[in-house]
Amino acid sequence: MPTQTETELAQVQDLEGRVLLATYARVPLLLERGRGPYVFDAAGKRYLDFITGIGVNALGYSHPRIVKAIRQQSAKLIHASNLYYNAFQGRLAERLARLAGMERAFFTNSGTEALEGALKIARLHGRAQNEQKTEIVALDNSFHGRTFGALSVTGQAKYRLPFEPGLPGVHFVAANDVGALRAAVNEHTCAVLVEPVQGEGGIVPLTAEFLSAAEAAARQHGALFICDEIQCGLGRTGRAFAYQWTSVVPDVVVTAKPIACGLPLGAILARGAAAAAFTPGLHGTTFGGGPLACRVALEFLDIMDDEHLFENIAARGRELKDGLEALQQRRRLGVKAVRGQGLMWGVVLDRPAKPAVEAARDLGLLANATHETVIRLLPPYNVDAKHVAKALRILSRAIKGN
Ligand SMILES: Cc1ncc(COP(=O)(O)O)c(C=O)c1O
Repeated sequence: MPTQTETELAQVQDLEGRVLLATYARVPLLLERGRGPYVFDAAGKRYLDFITGIGVNALGYSHPRIVKAIRQQSAKLIHASNLYYNAFQGRLAERLARLAGMERAFFTNSGTEALEGALKIARLHGRAQNEQKTEIVALDNSFHGRTFGALSVTGQAKYRLPFEPGLPGVHFVAANDVGALRAAVNEHTCAVLVEPVQGEGGIVPLTAEFLSAAEAAARQHGALFICDEIQCGLGRTGRAFAYQWTSVVPDVVVTAKPIACGLPLGAILARGAAAAAFTPGLHGTTFGGGPLACRVALEFLDIMDDEHLFENIAARGRELKDGLEALQQRRRLGVKAVRGQGLMWGVVLDRPAKPAVEAARDLGLLANATHETVIRLLPPYNVDAKHVAKALRILSRAIKGN
């Protein structure tokens, strides 16, 4: 006899199978609620969440200050559009710009939209110099989103090829190959685009040398240097932005995922000429930068400070790194590499990662498999030492024999 929850899940699966466009191969879990680092399914089974809605739920679930901010603001004003001012958008822009070393912000509803807007800034920047300066240098193995512009600069054929032709003039070079990058950037380049830590590509950190070379090549040819920090930014690696581990300063930064704790919000942050590219009428959005999402994002940034979360990310990140490297030492587990920083880690197996991820789930830990062989871990920023230890124990069991 199936349990009540199994029946409920089967009904949801049947309904979705009939009415949704077939875009997702979902995990068979019907989630109902979350608290702290745990999320619960409809049967009440609890999972320690080390994937956090793909890096979105950085404060875990139901943080009381976030719940309160949503409750208060939703009772006052959720949306009014960008026809009018709200009290929070400018304040959030100022905070984010200060964190990133940028000057101005534009708010979107997703990471992809922020990236898309950044591409438009790059076009304006290039065309202001000459009509042919429209090309973009991006990286193999990158991921920048699902709209046509973002897909066109995504260096993974499985996402991009089915939709070609995309934007013309995009050139891909291998991550961390300084020579290839230098050779690809020229007078037609309007932007060099990188993820300082490639996320969907299997948690691949770019070297400081490569980031510097990318910045220098962009500067030399009058192109913009754009960092996609949608997955690796806003504290994930232990600094506000991952490029801040190096000496580079981008012209444009795009950010999203954790910024409004699960409400849809992204941002383009820009400085210098890039910050002056848009003039009224050239870009816009109905929803982006609404009072609810912006207020929650301000609360998120306050909580990061008040709860000393940068310190926590560093401390827990060290524990996670040590624990994962210990797994790598155990030859029989078949861990080929451990990559990452702060609370962003990839465990590279010598085989597909999915069976180990499924075994971890059965044992009460959520992670995901990315780039076939990589177990991706994006735990919440306020995770504590005992949760890290628990996750490591489960991972060890799940990887063994899977
Ligand atoms: C680096 C990077 N860029 C862009 C995106 C797209 O963001 P969104 O799914 O919010 O549109 C993602 C999403 O995973 C990402 O990791």
